[in-house]
Amino acid sequence: MAEAAPGKEDEFRSTNQTAFVVGYSGGTGLALVEELVNRNIFQKVFLIGRRKLDKYEGDKYSMLEQKVVDYEKLEEDHADEFKGHSVGFCCLGAAKTSVGKEEYIKSNHDYIVKVAELAKAGGCRHFLLTSAIDADKDSRMLHKRLKGEVEAECADMGFQNLSIFRPAMILVKQPRRTVAYPVARVLMAPIIYFKPTYMSVPAETIGKAMVNTVLDPSKEAVKIIDNKGIHHTAKGMDCEK
Ligand SMILES: NC(=O)c1ccc[n+]([C@@H]2O[C@H](COP(=O)([O-])OP(=O)(O)OC[C@H]3O[C@@H](n4cnc5c(N)ncnc54)[C@H](OP(=O)(O)O)[C@@H]3O)[C@@H](O)[C@H]2O)c1
Repeated sequence: MAEAAPGKEDEFRSTNQTAFVVGYSGGTGLALVEELVNRNIFQKVFLIGRRKLDKYEGDKYSMLEQKVVDYEKLEEDHADEFKGHSVGFCCLGAAKTSVGKEEYIKSNHDYIVKVAELAKAGGCRHFLLTSAIDADKDSRMLHKRLKGEVEAECADMGFQNLSIFRPAMILVKQPRRTVAYPVARVLMAPIIYFKPTYMSVPAETIGKAMVNTVLDPSKEAVKIIDNKGIHHTAKGMDCEK
């Protein structure tokens, strides 16, 4: 278990805060939720999304509560779900090759911006966003531009802390819906092995880095953590090193 600093978990736990996670059913989200359950720093963690997962039944997961929402009606019907959580984690966003353009834009931009707005209005102080290594709001490429635009729009909302994680290829244990993933994984195997922080990051490492960032937020209101920084932060190291 990677701790940001000894004693910080106990100190944070004693403040009885709650958090929410969107995108909890994806590769990164599943790893983050497991980390949140193991570290047990929140009084309660709310999983807000379009479907309930059976795996979270049982005592081990009693600190989790699942809330099913219609992403098309977040503001009208579900604003209350985002009220009162000091921390919000966002791992939302369909892969480009798995859905049509409209769903891709909605899940990688529209829904995320709406979630961030509702969270801010509901009292969220620290929003942690999974973006991408190549985020660039001025890019002509849709993927890069959407990621960059979401970052910029969230930054304008004025969270006390906005932590933006920019992973390269996310490595997951469970099968991916896209054909590209297994192919890329085989092609990149030597780089993943010899230079693990260069072009990839395991989903579990992102989960650890996010929890460590909650315990030890940056003094800067908006902090971008690149792929190498994610690896460092997961180990409880300063991501600048
Ligand atoms: N995969 C990579 O290598 C990589 C690299 C860099 C950055 N990223 C970014 O990092 C984030 C997390 O990536 P990941 O690989 O963990 O994602 P993932 O496994 O594809 O999971 C995506 C999550 O978003 C939800 N989602 C997708 N489309 C949705 C829709 N139309 N409405 C509501 N929910 C929707 C999924 O819910 P369901 O389970 O219900 O579908 C799931 O919880 C994403 O923003 C991604 O763009 C990924």
